[in-house]
Amino acid sequence: MSAWRLPILVALALAVGCGNATQAPSVLKHVVPYEGVSEPSAGSKPIFSKLYSGSAPVGDAAFEQLKQLGVQTVLSVDGAIPDLESATAHGMRYVHLPIGYDGLDEERAALLVRVVRDLPKPVYLHCHHGQHRSACAAAVVAISLGWLTHEAAVAQMNLSGTSAAYQGLWESVARAEVLTEEAIDAAPSEFPSLTQPLPLVSAMVAIDAALDQITSSSGKTLAQSAAHAGTIADLLRVLGEEERAHTRLSPQSQTMRILFEESAAAATTLEQTLAAGGGAGLGRAISALKSSCTKCHAVFRDERRISAR
Ligand code: HEC
Repeated sequence: MSAWRLPILVALALAVGCGNATQAPSVLKHVVPYEGVSEPSAGSKPIFSKLYSGSAPVGDAAFEQLKQLGVQTVLSVDGAIPDLESATAHGMRYVHLPIGYDGLDEERAALLVRVVRDLPKPVYLHCHHGQHRSACAAAVVAISLGWLTHEAAVAQMNLSGTSAAYQGLWESVARAEVLTEEAIDAAPSEFPSLTQPLPLVSAMVAIDAALDQITSSSGKTLAQSAAHAGTIADLLRVLGEEERAHTRLSPQSQTMRILFEESAAAATTLEQTLAAGGGAGLGRAISALKSSCTKCHAVFRDERRISAR
């Protein structure tokens, strides 16, 4: 019905949200080594490692920081399209293998292990925030290659700040075990530098980028923030309309549609609050929007389900 609207909205949202030259230069966050760690709590000073987990590299400063760590390969498990151009300019190879918040199956795990085993190290493994999915993937890889015990991997995940709420991620780590060379060789040897995300994932990435713009403190006007909130509302509304097409077929779809509509309404409230000058209600409007995201994610994203990717 409105299938064409979503890709166009996503493209617009990402162009506004990410390509913005006035955006504050981002440096890497939550950089934690997943190998070469004798003291898991050594924390603050940089330790040379073959594998790091952290946030998505955005901008030159972030790639410079990767260079200082000696990084040769960047491995993204995030849904966002990777910045291949910057990686190439800094002499790094990019591999893009997204995973969900519900954890990773054996096949995806073996492929990630193969990437880290076979490509030049250090490898920098990232998702968006660098706390949950990348920490889980790095822990699974480090355990599978015999680099870390389960206990040591869990200690590193705690340094990364992995939330206890993402049960599927913790279960994937608990299930991980040392893989034989043959088991790793059975995984494909082609490593894609770009995996085309599903439309829903692209929409979520755009929504998240717009929300980041609103909550980051890099000198924006209220009108700009209101526009970002409006974009979020539009995207959520289109997603809700798309669910409507399936509603008669599945009660799940009906629940999802209602949750999209609730979340869109919260985004509109935030937009109106910002347009009216922010003020006392702003904090409340932001947390209401965030909890509408969490409410749906708890049911439809973070529990293990049959995933299309
Ligand atoms: C009605 C349900 C629903 C609502 C509301 C919702 N999401 Fe999502 N979101 C999902 C689902 C489902 C996925 C997983 C998609 C997949 O992996 O196939 C997801 C994935 C994501 C991801 C991960 C993208 C990636 O890299 O894989 C982010 C980030 C995200 N959502 C942010 C948000 C934010 C921020 C909000 C609120 C402003 C929000 N979402 C509201 C259902 C929802």
